[in-house]
Amino acid sequence: MNIEDRKGEHIEHAVNQLSQGPLTTLLENVWIVHQAFTELSMDEIDLSTEFLSYKLQAPIIVSSMTGGFEGALNINKKLAELAEEYRLAIGVGSQRAMVIKPELSYTYRVVRDVARSVPVIANIGIAQLSTLSYETVERIVESIEADALAVHLNMLQELIQPEGDRSFRGSSKLLEKIIEKMDIPIIIKEVGNGLSRETASVFYTLGIRIFDVAGAGGTNWVTIEMLRGKGKYESVGEVFRTWGIPTAASIVEVSSVGRDVTVIASGGIRTGIDIAKAIALGAELVGIAQPFLKAVLSDNGREYVETLLHQLKIALMLTGCKSVAELKNIHIVIYGLLAQWLCARRLKIRNSNSYISCTIG
Ligand SMILES: Cc1cc2nc3c(=O)[nH]c(=O)nc-3n(C[C@H](O)[C@H](O)[C@H](O)COP(=O)(O)O)c2cc1C
Repeated sequence: MNIEDRKGEHIEHAVNQLSQGPLTTLLENVWIVHQAFTELSMDEIDLSTEFLSYKLQAPIIVSSMTGGFEGALNINKKLAELAEEYRLAIGVGSQRAMVIKPELSYTYRVVRDVARSVPVIANIGIAQLSTLSYETVERIVESIEADALAVHLNMLQELIQPEGDRSFRGSSKLLEKIIEKMDIPIIIKEVGNGLSRETASVFYTLGIRIFDVAGAGGTNWVTIEMLRGKGKYESVGEVFRTWGIPTAASIVEVSSVGRDVTVIASGGIRTGIDIAKAIALGAELVGIAQPFLKAVLSDNGREYVETLLHQLKIALMLTGCKSVAELKNIHIVIYGLLAQWLCARRLKIRNSNSYISCTIG
């Protein structure tokens, strides 16, 4: 199957509810302590957040999704319109397809043409770095005037995918050159199985300071590849549907790597409460993919964003926070599997005001 058809199939299956979970983010194990009275007014709540030298209206990225086939043009245009209107950051999907077929560049370029005043993030898989030249990577970045380049790690998806990569050797050399020579930040990003402290440390040592955890609990690529494979890979894939690091755990794993690390929480972030919890756990901002896709495909994008922002504002009101940054100092209670995870891994959260009820370790 060619790459364009595969991209189309990914979109088709990603909007199917079956593509979500079955693991949860473990954000349900984070309890925000409700404050029944805070002397605040909704109109003074400030959701704005600095990211990549831009001021966003809210701490949200429309995560990397598509590009590289004709149908992506309209989707990317609609996603970019939302990002521009609400001043949210936005990523494009893997630009491998435009390396293979440069005539498809317009399906990515539309994002920058529409989203002129927000950060736009380029995207390439780590496996491709072993085959591309520095100049090619520079070209894909320049083609959308990107403010950052996300390098995605999707080993599990590739290994499950019938036509996927099987070797991940030899990518670090070009990555090191990119980090050294490119004048935009590089983001290391998973796609739905989460980043561990160990993985983040490897890239931290190379100089990476921005990580997008893309943990388990939201879009599940093993399931999507199984739906595409129509039974062919079911016995291999089935056991890996519950593989991965839940998003809440991954936020703490990655934020423990260094004080100077910017953590993007993503993977199953669905509500304004999820955003508040992710930030209280140590993230600076969140990424959301599948719900944005569903919303723009049903012409519901503005309603979706308005609801999300409203929910987040209410969460700030009820915790006495005037700004998103203040969420980092609120009291949260962590219990259940997430508490066990943090204890077993001897991880501390960056928010020093929180209580971890440790049941083991
Ligand atoms: C249709 C679709 C296509 C995606 N394509 C890419 C991609 O090309 N590159 C990438 O880094 N992540 C890609 N992702 C992963 C998302 O950026 C995100 O990390 C992941 O879906 C978890 O977020 P969610 O649970 O909110 O969907 C894709 C996600 C979806 C739904």
